[in-house]
Amino acid sequence: MKIKSAEFVISNSDVTKCPKDLLHEYAFIGRSNVGKSSLINMLMQRKNLAKTSGRPGKTQLINHFLINKKWFLVDLPGYGYAKVSKSSKRVFQKFITQYFEKREQLVLAFVLIDCRHEPQKVDLEFMQWMGENGVPFCVVFTKQDKVKPNALLRNIETYREKMLETWEEMPKYFVTSSSNNTGREELLKYIGEVNLEMG
Ligand code: GTP
Ligand code: MG
Repeated sequence: MKIKSAEFVISNSDVTKCPKDLLHEYAFIGRSNVGKSSLINMLMQRKNLAKTSGRPGKTQLINHFLINKKWFLVDLPGYGYAKVSKSSKRVFQKFITQYFEKREQLVLAFVLIDCRHEPQKVDLEFMQWMGENGVPFCVVFTKQDKVKPNALLRNIETYREKMLETWEEMPKYFVTSSSNNTGREELLKYIGEVNLEMG
């Protein structure tokens, strides 16, 4: 898919105040610092469209970006940081869960996972919650540039095994790097296909 335009529309902490347009939207979610905002910039080939930072907790609000004047990308705050996710309780910022519960325009979420790490409880719990709430999602392994190819394969295999303990199959997944553009074409192509399917 060719990106002709990408514009920031609005930030807010209240799902009822998100754009009313009935356009398809795709949300990026995952732990703080996993690379959600960077991935949006990489996909759009724009350096500062979404704000990024080396320190976790940069994105604090629900941010809508209008792409090609036809669909939205949504940058969300991370979970698993500071007051979020206390021990094993499923506590995520309330407006994030409300966003996923209430946002009817949401077509698909991308759950970002840092490919360097072992499966983390907070991510597995979040995906469990998405499953229980009927929110369709794909997994995006980020920061591919930070691992050697063998380690990447091994980590993905470990993830698959872990997911298969509770899921019937591994969700569709992508491998990306915002540093070297790995995964860009694939991800955009997939979004284009889903847009077509949804009509
Ligand atoms: P919050 O908004 O705090 O939830 O974080 P985020 O998930 O939006 O992460 P962000 O995009 O701000 O990136 C966090 C840090 O990781 C920044 O220092 C980025 O430069 C770095 N980063 C993100 N993606 C990649 C990647 O693919 N490769 C490398 N090497 N660094 C990355
Ligand atoms: Mg961010």
